[in-house]
Amino acid sequence: DFSQLTIPIDMAIQVYKSGIPPEFLVEMGRRAIAAPNIDMVGLHVHQGRHHASLWFWEGLMSRFGKLAGELVAAWDGWQPREIDIGGGWPSPRDPLNEELPRSEFVLTALGFPLLAGLRGLGARLYHRALAGLVPLLSSHRFRATPPSIEQYAATSVRALRRELQAARISTAGVRLQIEPGRSMYGDAGIHLARVKTVKRQSQPFPYAWVLTDTTTFFLAGGHFERSRFRHVVANKADRPVAMTADLVGHSCFADQIVLGARLPEVVPGDVIALLETGAYQESSASNFNALPRPATVMVCGDQADVVRRAETVEDVYRRDLAPPRMHRFQGAHSDPVAMEIQS
Ligand SMILES: Cc1ncc(COP(=O)(O)O)c(C=O)c1O
Repeated sequence: DFSQLTIPIDMAIQVYKSGIPPEFLVEMGRRAIAAPNIDMVGLHVHQGRHHASLWFWEGLMSRFGKLAGELVAAWDGWQPREIDIGGGWPSPRDPLNEELPRSEFVLTALGFPLLAGLRGLGARLYHRALAGLVPLLSSHRFRATPPSIEQYAATSVRALRRELQAARISTAGVRLQIEPGRSMYGDAGIHLARVKTVKRQSQPFPYAWVLTDTTTFFLAGGHFERSRFRHVVANKADRPVAMTADLVGHSCFADQIVLGARLPEVVPGDVIALLETGAYQESSASNFNALPRPATVMVCGDQADVVRRAETVEDVYRRDLAPPRMHRFQGAHSDPVAMEIQS
């Protein structure tokens, strides 16, 4: 996901690593068509999730259709039997790009002059200004619900068919393939975390953190895309909002999971459900700080089954090897897992 701004598609495409540079397309296609052991069945484009709007798909499919026309002309009338338009449709409750980059603002040139100027006001006024500014930086507005999968399909197919027909490519019998990922399962995942402690400060301005037993490193896929996960205190879902706090994880990193979360009064032991964590979260989870990753439970109606067991500390260290030259420091211990755990 590149930007929540409406940046031009052609610009975004330049910095996206996937695909074949256009200058090679004609020659590569000619060679593939001529190769006796290759049956070139079709064309594929995948731009990834760029923008939730329909205009993106209208633009991408128009250009892809035009390109297909240029290639078919260059390939002496070769006709595609399959056309694949890739993935990138957002999930219905799309959380991506909702988290404002607060630390980037505070730590970079953007915020520095403002903060330096505010310091001139003296400590009291400076902290009062910060107290107003920091929540502003973590405030957010959930985007309107993205268009439905039917709308993406209709827009994409209309634009593609129009351009293909203009290029005299017959669409009759051509198999259209799509590769939606997150739009199908993004909303299906719920990440559960238990509250370990609540920390509050009153000076230099009031602030609160809810420390959980998870980490943003288990949610890395969303973190890269500035996801702001909707959250519910699962055992207090019907209680009114009573506090604003940063939901944070327990690694040594800043580990900000949801900034400025609005929660009922929480206490250690409460369970926070982070919604929309079904796409790219589990597969991108890492063992930063040697934290074992949680189990995955598949739920359907009233059935629940563990489909991936929780990691153990032994799992985390299983691949570690102590080089023989270090054995003399380890006394009688030669099992690297045991050594690591004991140290
Ligand atoms: C080639 C290809 N198709 C489909 C997808 C799925 O993308 P998304 O989950 O954004 O729909 C990906 C993900 O990167 C991909 O690389």
